[in-house]
Amino acid sequence: MISKGRHIESASGRLGVLLAGLGAVSTTFIAGVEAIRMGQAKPYGSLTQMGTIRLGKRSGRRVPQIKNFVPLVELENLYFAAWDPIADNAYEAALNAGVLDRALIDSLKGTLQEIRPWKAVFDSKYVTRLRGTNVKTGKNKLELAEQLKEEIRQFREKNQLDRVVMIWCGSTEVYLEPGKIHSTPENLEKAMRENHDEIPSSMVYAYAAITSGIPFANGAPNLTVDVPAMITLAKEYHVPICGKDFKTGQTLMKTIIAPGLKARLLGLHGWFSTNILGNRDGEVLDDPMSFKTKEESKLSVLEHILQPDLYPDLYRNFYHKVRINYYPPRGDNKESWDNLDIFGWLGYPMQIKIDFLCRDSILAAPLVLDLVLFLDLAQRAKMSGIQEWLSFYFKSPMCAPELYPEHDLFIQLMKLKNTLRYLRGEEQITHLGLDYYE
Ligand SMILES: NC(=O)c1ccc[n+]([C@@H]2O[C@H](COP(=O)([O-])OP(=O)(O)OC[C@H]3O[C@@H](n4cnc5c(N)ncnc54)[C@H](O)[C@@H]3O)[C@@H](O)[C@H]2O)c1
Repeated sequence: MISKGRHIESASGRLGVLLAGLGAVSTTFIAGVEAIRMGQAKPYGSLTQMGTIRLGKRSGRRVPQIKNFVPLVELENLYFAAWDPIADNAYEAALNAGVLDRALIDSLKGTLQEIRPWKAVFDSKYVTRLRGTNVKTGKNKLELAEQLKEEIRQFREKNQLDRVVMIWCGSTEVYLEPGKIHSTPENLEKAMRENHDEIPSSMVYAYAAITSGIPFANGAPNLTVDVPAMITLAKEYHVPICGKDFKTGQTLMKTIIAPGLKARLLGLHGWFSTNILGNRDGEVLDDPMSFKTKEESKLSVLEHILQPDLYPDLYRNFYHKVRINYYPPRGDNKESWDNLDIFGWLGYPMQIKIDFLCRDSILAAPLVLDLVLFLDLAQRAKMSGIQEWLSFYFKSPMCAPELYPEHDLFIQLMKLKNTLRYLRGEEQITHLGLDYYE
């Protein structure tokens, strides 16, 4: 069915990009955008920059680039700022992350040095492997949120920004479960005022963003915005939110392969995933409580894609194990191994082995860019609350409480593109195609 589309405000003007956390992902993202702006590199991996979208019938051959189909902010109009408990500027942080070549980082030195992180809302209670010195102090967590909001106001004013987006690119915090204090905005604010332990730093940023009318995405597996109080606030303040945990590396592979196995009704006895990585993220995840947050996020993927309840003969008892091993010599260049014990016709067993020599932040950076641009688009299209159409980017996509998350990468992509078609009043693509033959 063709709708009229939605009114979308113009993408003109300046967009501020606030990054909570100035580590490997953030600096790879910022340096990448700078390099692309200067014509030194191409935006590989970014759907907003390189993706296309088919419109109408296949015979019509209308396949514009996404960036020409929906109004998105130009890269020239992005302005960056960040918080981090470690005071290194973006140049030092990029060197320290060890993702990009020194020559590239040096060529951007002046610009990167200008990005000096503001003092963070940070407590090593939630990220036990880090000691921060560049840290805010305040009476309580609500007051700390006010300090963040004031900084955002000043950043806005100083750079004459039209709009702002915030992305959590900070470390993975210890595992927390949603509780009563996260159930309503009133309970949340009371808990923030009382400095409750179950309000990790990431929630203080999310609260500050939402109550400033700023879209928020969570790139880590922390609860952060995935609690009823934040979802209600996002609706009240007309703010789009999404998360959790950028879908890169091993989980990306999982969500590419698992739908294929299910499509061909190949069974699964077990899937063992292990990897080595040596960046700061790996060091943080070496702490069992931060690892648990990550593990929950990584484990849920297969259950949801394979649907053992619908396919008991194929997937009832598969064994799924995920390990992350901190191994400093590899830095950000993770190596991940997967062993899949599958079975086919007559139950005959087969195996698949994957050895993925990936670069974590190289996979994550274009996702940050897309999320920045799509969240801004969503806000200009007056979309608020959970943006399920952005599930494509996450390992643990947020969704309405009565739904299960959609993990299949291809369904996620179709959902994303259909949302763009809907926004522009174009026909949804169902791939039925019978009319070509009848
Ligand atoms: N790289 C990937 O492919 C990938 C994929 C999925 C998720 N993630 C998640 O994204 C996040 C960033 O990853 P990374 O590789 O850049 O890690 P990183 O360790 O290099 O950077 C994280 C930064 O966050 C800072 N930080 C910690 N607590 C903070 C706080 N309260 N406020 C502000 N800053 C804070 C740290 O000091 C550090 O500089 C991690 O949570 C990671 O698990 C990364």
